[in-house]
Amino acid sequence: MPDSSLSHLFAQNRAWAESVTRDDPTFFTTLAALQAPRYLWIGCSDSRVPPNQLTGLRPGELFVHRNVANVVVPSDLNCLATIHFAVDVLKVEHIIVCGHYGCGGVRAALEGQRLGLVNAWIGHVEDVRDRHAAALEACATFDERMKRLCELNVIEQVLHVCRTLVVRDAWSRGQALAVHGWAYSLHDGLLRDLDVTVNAEGTADEACERARAAVLR
Ligand code: CO
Repeated sequence: MPDSSLSHLFAQNRAWAESVTRDDPTFFTTLAALQAPRYLWIGCSDSRVPPNQLTGLRPGELFVHRNVANVVVPSDLNCLATIHFAVDVLKVEHIIVCGHYGCGGVRAALEGQRLGLVNAWIGHVEDVRDRHAAALEACATFDERMKRLCELNVIEQVLHVCRTLVVRDAWSRGQALAVHGWAYSLHDGLLRDLDVTVNAEGTADEACERARAAVLR
């Protein structure tokens, strides 16, 4: 029988709240009144990639959207609403699309695994796989193909973010907003900048093309 009581989580929560309050007695009252994060994180749901911890950011500092394989689909109302709220209301200055090496969703796309319902979602990564089929074929090993598809998937999603109306409108009214593509390594806990940062409308395709070329080199 699995332990159905989650009392340890409540105990840990109390300990955490107490330690935060000890360090800063006004922390929760200040934060309850206002959130003003500078960053939107779009990452994988993977439990090994906790955005606040690996960036050292505290509650209130990072607005977050996560799904399997960090995909940005133009028809996904959930993701679009998050981007809209982050850009138009919170006025974040940076959107970070962060993938990770060894991603299960990317692996499923690469191997063509049949997992069930989640395949409907992974189809978006399969699109990236098929778009770069020749380059992936050219990789010597499966590990190399995995690494490249993880990176290419991030780059394609950066482009999708840049093409949303919300982001294009923000740029056309001169709002400071940059979109970044990063990859996280489970092996050493380090983030890698894929050098695909886009700062203004019109440079998105160019930046992504440059990044794709770098990844495929
Ligand atoms: Co993943």
